[in-house]
Amino acid sequence: MTSERECFVYIVLPGETEFVTAARFRVSQTRDGEPVGELVYGKNYLARNNTVELDPIELRLGNDKFETARMNGVFGAIRDAMPDYWGRRVIERNAGKVGLGEFDYLMLGADDRAGALGFGLNAEPPAPRRNFNRTLDLEKLQEMAEAILNDQADDIENPHDVQQVQELMLEGTSMGGARPKAVVEDNNSLWVAKFSSPQDRWNQPRVEHAFLNLAKSCGLNVADSKIVSAAGKDVLLVRRFDRDHTEEGYRRHRMVSALTLLRSEESPAAKGDWSYILLADEIRRTSSQPEQDLKELFGRMCFNALVSNLDDHPRNHAILAKDANWRLSPAYDLTPTPSIALENRDLAMACGLHGRMANKENLLSGYGRFLLETDNARSIIDNMVEVVRSEWDACLHRAGASNKDCEAISSSLIYEGFFNEKSKD
Ligand SMILES: Nc1ncnc2c1ncn2[C@@H]1O[C@H](COP(=O)(O)OP(=O)(O)O)[C@@H](O)[C@H]1O
Ligand SMILES: [Mg+2]
Repeated sequence: MTSERECFVYIVLPGETEFVTAARFRVSQTRDGEPVGELVYGKNYLARNNTVELDPIELRLGNDKFETARMNGVFGAIRDAMPDYWGRRVIERNAGKVGLGEFDYLMLGADDRAGALGFGLNAEPPAPRRNFNRTLDLEKLQEMAEAILNDQADDIENPHDVQQVQELMLEGTSMGGARPKAVVEDNNSLWVAKFSSPQDRWNQPRVEHAFLNLAKSCGLNVADSKIVSAAGKDVLLVRRFDRDHTEEGYRRHRMVSALTLLRSEESPAAKGDWSYILLADEIRRTSSQPEQDLKELFGRMCFNALVSNLDDHPRNHAILAKDANWRLSPAYDLTPTPSIALENRDLAMACGLHGRMANKENLLSGYGRFLLETDNARSIIDNMVEVVRSEWDACLHRAGASNKDCEAISSSLIYEGFFNEKSKD
């Protein structure tokens, strides 16, 4: 017998705040039991005068039936809107079982997903949500997150307000990533609240805040962030750039990860496709301002190498469409990776003609793919080395990181091997 699951795909169109129904998505199985995904845009949707594509890669507007046999039948743009490690963990805890199917994660994920898409079983989309967790709830959200990390969520005391937050938290988040997080509203903005975790080796919220600020000092376009404290613990709030507040509600901007742009996935076998150079080619094709975005991407790649943000995988890069046009999104999730190697460090994505090697020579080798001249590329790196060298310590202290935190991560910054010239060995 074949099993088949189906839902509607909703979208908030540019300039609007409510969902309209855009497409129908179905996952069925071949005779061999392999999942196949199908997506068809609705006729009414295509007939509107302000329709936009769900993504600029696989799902361009048209009457075609799109099919995919990859990723259990899930298209990249849909995967980007689904909960990831953390969100799945909360859903599983709530459902009381692990290893649900992809379609379950899609249906059970909260409606706070990155980008402009929504999913549901009714042809009519749901009304937009108006109540969000507040920063006031952070203390309890953090407590819940920790309990989930320790698998003790049932042990929490249950007075009235804790119960309410527990309900909100157990609804979880569809935002991706592995770290414990929730979405909160503050000051007419939505923020990704990233909690500390007992496994952290330093004050992760403050260090990430400092790294985001350091990237700003290097001239990069970075998501806004701030630190708040809840129950004596620090929480990093990163302002969501895919939501804008208006009188009528929140606008939602489409967002597609670099993983989708590269037509790749997170399996170990797919890691060979992860490349800044190939990403630059895709951005050249999709961005409405390719020169500006490619210079920015080159800068981010160099920054990641300089500060050993070695977890710069393609879900940590995205493109964003606030209107019909796609642009590189602001940078997010910048943190040092504990690393002791002084000679060689590798980024998560290939960054030059010598693969993933995080050194100046390799970074410079692919400059043309970023539409840069060689002198230009060289001066971007040289200026960044100066800024990182002179500002990292002050940046960490300004963010409230302790001396111990600074010491713990100092080996991440401008490591020796960055300046090695392999080709001259
Ligand atoms: N400021 C932001 N605005 C919109 N989406 C964001 C923002 N920051 C992160 N995201 C989305 O949330 C996901 C998880 O956030 P991230 O900071 O990468 O968490 P983690 O450290 O757990 O990987 C990202 O992959 C991205 O899709
Ligand atoms: Mg991440």
